[in-house]
Amino acid sequence: MKLPALFKSFILLGVLASASVASLSAQSAFSSDPVAYYTELLAAYNNDPVQAMQVADPAYAAILDEPRLIEVFGAERQWMTEGDKLQLKQAGLAFMDVTDFEDIEVDRSFVRAEKSQAWPEIQRQDQVNKVISLLSVDTMREDLVTLTSFYNRFYRSDYGVKSSRWIFDQVLQIVASAPPSTRLSIETFTHSFPQSSIIARFEPSGGRSSPSPKHPRDVLPRIILGAHQDSSNYKFPMFPAPGADDDGSGTVTILAAFRALVEAGFTPAAPVEFHWYAAEEGGLLGSQEVVKEYVALEKKVGAMIQFDMTAYVDPRSEPGVTLMTTDVHPSLTNWTLSLVPEYCSLSQKEGKLWPNAGSDHMSWHRAGFPAVFAAEGDPDKDEFDPWVHTVNDTMYLDEFSFEHALEFAKLAVGFAVELGGWTD
Ligand SMILES: *[C@@H]1O[C@H](CO)[C@@H](O)[C@H](O)[C@H]1NC(C)=O
Ligand SMILES: *[C@@H]1O[C@H](CO)[C@@H](O)[C@H](O)[C@H]1NC(C)=O
Repeated sequence: MKLPALFKSFILLGVLASASVASLSAQSAFSSDPVAYYTELLAAYNNDPVQAMQVADPAYAAILDEPRLIEVFGAERQWMTEGDKLQLKQAGLAFMDVTDFEDIEVDRSFVRAEKSQAWPEIQRQDQVNKVISLLSVDTMREDLVTLTSFYNRFYRSDYGVKSSRWIFDQVLQIVASAPPSTRLSIETFTHSFPQSSIIARFEPSGGRSSPSPKHPRDVLPRIILGAHQDSSNYKFPMFPAPGADDDGSGTVTILAAFRALVEAGFTPAAPVEFHWYAAEEGGLLGSQEVVKEYVALEKKVGAMIQFDMTAYVDPRSEPGVTLMTTDVHPSLTNWTLSLVPEYCSLSQKEGKLWPNAGSDHMSWHRAGFPAVFAAEGDPDKDEFDPWVHTVNDTMYLDEFSFEHALEFAKLAVGFAVELGGWTD
C-alpha cells in the first residue's frame, strides 16, 4: 500500500516516540493542517474509515472490533462492530446503537402514551408572549458563531468535550443571572464516552422532580425540550464538522428559549428540563443513556420535544414550522401543531422522516414516553439542509435563516409554558 509522505513520517516519528521533541514535530505537522493529513490518510486506505481510524485515534482503534447491536432506521436490528458504524455513516445511513439499551423496562403505570390522551387547552398567551418578546436572533447568531468555531463536536474527541463544556458555561451564566424567585438546577450527565450531555431544569413550585426515599412515587412528570450538541463529518469523524444546522441550530434554539424563560422568571408547576444530548451521531447514545437512567430511577416524563435542524429554508418550498408525523406520539404532535398558529409567525406543516433517519426523541418514544419532533421542513419533500454531515454545514449559506430558527424558539417557549404551567 502506498502511504503518503506526511503519514510515513508521522508513523516513523511515532515509532521513535520516546523522543518528545520528535512527537512534538509530528504533532505540529498534524495540527498545522489536519484536513490535508486526514485526506491523505484516508486516501491511503481507499477511503476505508476503519483502517484510517486505526492510525488516527489509538484509543478509538482499540474498540473498533467490539460488537454493537445496530438498528439502521427502517431495518432489522443486527450485530455489527463499532467500526461498521463508521462505514454506515460514510454511506449516509442513520441508526440507533441499542447495544446497552436492549431491555429498557418501562413501568406502564407512569407512561402516559395513550393515543387518546388529552392535552391542556392553550391558555397562557400572556405569559408565553411575554417570554417570546425576550427572544433574540442576535444572541442565537452569537451562540452559533462560537459553537461552529470548534473544529468539530465529535463525541469521542477533545473538541466535542470542549464544545460540551462551552454549552455548560452558557447555561451556567444564564442560571447565575436568574431572578431570585426561579429555582434552577444544572447537571453534567456523564457518559461511557468522553462528551457529556447537559441538563438544565426549572424545579417545580410544589412536589418533586425526582423520587425520594420517603415518597418514592410522589414525583411530578417532567416536560423535556431537547437538541443534540454533537456534530459529525460522515466521511470521516476526524474531519471538520461545523454542524451549524445539524444540530447547532437546535442547540441555540432551545438555549434561546431557556435564556428567555429564565429572564422572565418562569416558575412552572411541573419540572421543565432542557437537554443538550451528546453523541446523537453515534447512534442516539447520549439520549438513550439519559432515558435508561430516568426509567431506572422512576423519574416521570409527561412530554418530550426534540429540535433537530431548525434554520435551513428550502428555497423551493413554503417555509413553515414542521412536526414529523412518523415515530412520534400522535396526539401530542397534534397538540404541538396547534401551538404554531398561536405563537409562531409561520404556518404549521407536517413532515415524514425518511425511514433511515432519526433523532433523540426516538429514544424516549421507544421507551414509551410521549415524544415529538420539530424540524425545519419536510424531509420527504427534500426540504432538509443538503449539506449536513459535511464541512459545508455552515451558517453562511444563503438559505440559513436565524429568523426561521427563531420561530422554533417561540414554539419551544409555548411548549414549556403551556405544558409546564406557571405559578405565581
Ligand atoms: C389529529 O388531528 C387531526 C385533524 O384535526 C384528527 O383528524 C386526528 O384524529 C388527530 N389525531 C390524534 C391522534 O389526535
Ligand atoms: C462544499 O462546497 C464546495 C463549494 O460548493 C464544494 O466544492 C465541495 O465539494 C463541498 N464539499 C462537500 C464535502 O460537500
